[in-house]
Amino acid sequence: MTDARIAQVSAHDKEREAEALRRKSASASGEPPGDWLLQMPFAGLGMTNIRLAVGEMYNFASAVMALDPAPGDLVLDLGAGSCWVSDWLNRLLVDTVSLDIAHDMLRIGQRRLGPQAKLTVGDFEALPFTEGTFHGAICLSALHHVPNIPRALREVHRVLQEDGVAVFSEPGAGHASHPQSQAEMAELGVLERDIIAAELMEECRRAGFEQVSVQPYLFPAPTYDEALWRVLERAQPPQGVTLEAPQGAASHGQPLRRLLASIPWLGRRLSKWLPALPPATSPGRTEIRPDASLDLAWQSLLLLRQATQAHPIVLARKRPRRIDSRRPHVLAAELVLVDPPPRCRPGETFTLTVQARNTGDTLWLHQPRAIGGHVALGAKLMDSGHLALIYDYGRGYFRQDVAPGQEATVQITLRAPDAADEYLVKLDLVDECIVWFEHRGSRPLLTPLTIL
Ligand SMILES: C[S@@+](CC[C@H](N)C(=O)[O-])C[C@H]1O[C@@H](n2cnc3c(N)ncnc32)[C@H](O)[C@@H]1O
Repeated sequence: MTDARIAQVSAHDKEREAEALRRKSASASGEPPGDWLLQMPFAGLGMTNIRLAVGEMYNFASAVMALDPAPGDLVLDLGAGSCWVSDWLNRLLVDTVSLDIAHDMLRIGQRRLGPQAKLTVGDFEALPFTEGTFHGAICLSALHHVPNIPRALREVHRVLQEDGVAVFSEPGAGHASHPQSQAEMAELGVLERDIIAAELMEECRRAGFEQVSVQPYLFPAPTYDEALWRVLERAQPPQGVTLEAPQGAASHGQPLRRLLASIPWLGRRLSKWLPALPPATSPGRTEIRPDASLDLAWQSLLLLRQATQAHPIVLARKRPRRIDSRRPHVLAAELVLVDPPPRCRPGETFTLTVQARNTGDTLWLHQPRAIGGHVALGAKLMDSGHLALIYDYGRGYFRQDVAPGQEATVQITLRAPDAADEYLVKLDLVDECIVWFEHRGSRPLLTPLTIL
């Protein structure tokens, strides 16, 4: 590890930097200072800036996907600036504390977030919080301004909870020598430096984070013309090579994540796989060289490497995450009805008892929260033709968390319908505000209900 690059930057005048930011946020146009910063990430929209604004949104989306906060989590926004990241996280029901060394930037953040804002003027290298305060920390384009990164990382590690996680999305190789950075260093006195993915990851581990990973910043995404896509689409593994799904691949809806998760696996197999590709031709178009697929595959890997070098998104966990129902993975249950429903009169209440075994891999949290993420027993009232009459017929709550493999009893008290008839009650577990277990392939229980 080259201590000299990340660890030691000569004493940098942070006061000077804060003052420079104050001047930068001031406006010469007569508007109150900082008005353009209030519009982040839409600031300065004009002919050329849609790309910049969308880039900021992409940066936010990538970092938040990596952080994967649950609603209600408390996240530290490090180097928050005018606090647009905090604002957007709050809209996602994630609670934030916004920290910045520049008081003037936080004043703009205060205007943006209003009286509910939790703002702290403070230095990354000496965080003014007690140990274990935060579920997560997010840092967009701020770590590279900090002179002593190892110290800052130790501080972030200290203020995170035991299973806390931090994400850093930072400019990478070539940033400091970029003409814009050179101009800002000269005009404003700010510290600009390259964040090298491997070095930052190593420093995170030295700071005590057990699990460290990096993602490429793929903006804009690569584009394949029709002929190249046909090559890629037709790529087949040779006989004997199994294409197992990469570990942790999501079930659906996250193709980019799946692709990225597969990269080490792809790399290992590439040499066996590519020579077996058939020569590819685009119908009625240019003949593509048989080895074009090889070029294409390597180009894709190089692109990922360059994207990671140019802008690493580093994720650092204090320890591997336990999967629970706030961020579920496999949700599955075996449900057994202990007694059949009694014959009831209209409007009477009755109680059902269900034995539930957790056959998935996700811990079921039981404590009800308004924003969900806890598992409960849900009931739907159906007519005898299986059509739902009351979709949310009732809820029953577990008395404790249920780990994978464990069993627990849960009761639900329901009110019989007013009309005498034959009904069905469908019982299923629900991860509140997230999903019914049935929608993830788990089998619900159906039981007849007779109202006399
Ligand atoms: C490029 S801005 C990024 C702001 C915000 N994260 C965003 O994406 O818009 C970098 C911020 O880091 C802050 N900063 C620089 N050095 C810091 C330090 N040592 N401690 C806390 N904040 C710092 C600056 O004041 C500035 O607001």
